[in-house]
Amino acid sequence: MSVLQKSGLRPGYPVRTERLLLRPLTVSDVDALFAYRSRPDVCRYVPFEPMTREVLHERLASSWANTDLTDEGQALTLGIEVAGTGRLVGDVVLFWHSREHGGGEIGYVVNPDFSGDGYATEAARALLQLGFDDLGLHRIVARIDERNEPSAKVARRLGMRQEARLVRNELFKGEWSTELDFAMLDEEWPAYRTPR
Ligand SMILES: CC(C)(COP(=O)(O)OP(=O)(O)OC[C@H]1O[C@@H](n2cnc3c(N)ncnc32)[C@H](O)[C@@H]1OP(=O)(O)O)[C@@H](O)C(=O)NCCC(=O)NCCS
Repeated sequence: MSVLQKSGLRPGYPVRTERLLLRPLTVSDVDALFAYRSRPDVCRYVPFEPMTREVLHERLASSWANTDLTDEGQALTLGIEVAGTGRLVGDVVLFWHSREHGGGEIGYVVNPDFSGDGYATEAARALLQLGFDDLGLHRIVARIDERNEPSAKVARRLGMRQEARLVRNELFKGEWSTELDFAMLDEEWPAYRTPR
């Protein structure tokens, strides 16, 4: 039986990967966030609508101001900055769903101007590391609309297993969404900790 050992997640920032810095978002990121989070194509398969600058400021002052995870039910959103240029190219989120079951979930968004370079995969791998190695999660999932092939490719590239295909599961933005559920367990993570 896997037991959650850790009591919370308090990363030291920035969280460094080979090419990226993951760090809390700040008011100075509004223009970079607006560049992609205001786009309907970026928001097509995510559970938020295109954002105005006002909404971005509101998020920065509330849920995105969280820099650690102290209990289940919380989420940690981090900006993806390219270390070499200082550009904010996207953001990632780690949800802590259950303390008892050691359950978490990841999500990722990358500005289309910077897609195709593996930034989402590299940032999401760092989130898996925070979730498994630092928070002590047992199982991390990604829930993806079947039509969102670029997102499913990220999950597969990370080594997550597709466990379920929930046919026309949710009425999402006015259409039925077929949901693909991907997961990774703590005992599977060591094999995928570094890129293959
Ligand atoms: C989902 C999303 C983040 C994927 O972005 P992406 O740029 O395709 O993903 P990555 O940044 O990991 O880049 C992967 C691509 O870069 C290529 N690549 C180049 N260098 C790479 C590297 N060093 N490592 C990994 N991949 C690399 C890969 O081959 C892949 O290209 P391919 O799709 O043609 O095979 C992006 O489409 C997005 O933000 N969509 C809108 C928001 C969204 O739907 N989020 C998911 C919600 S579930």
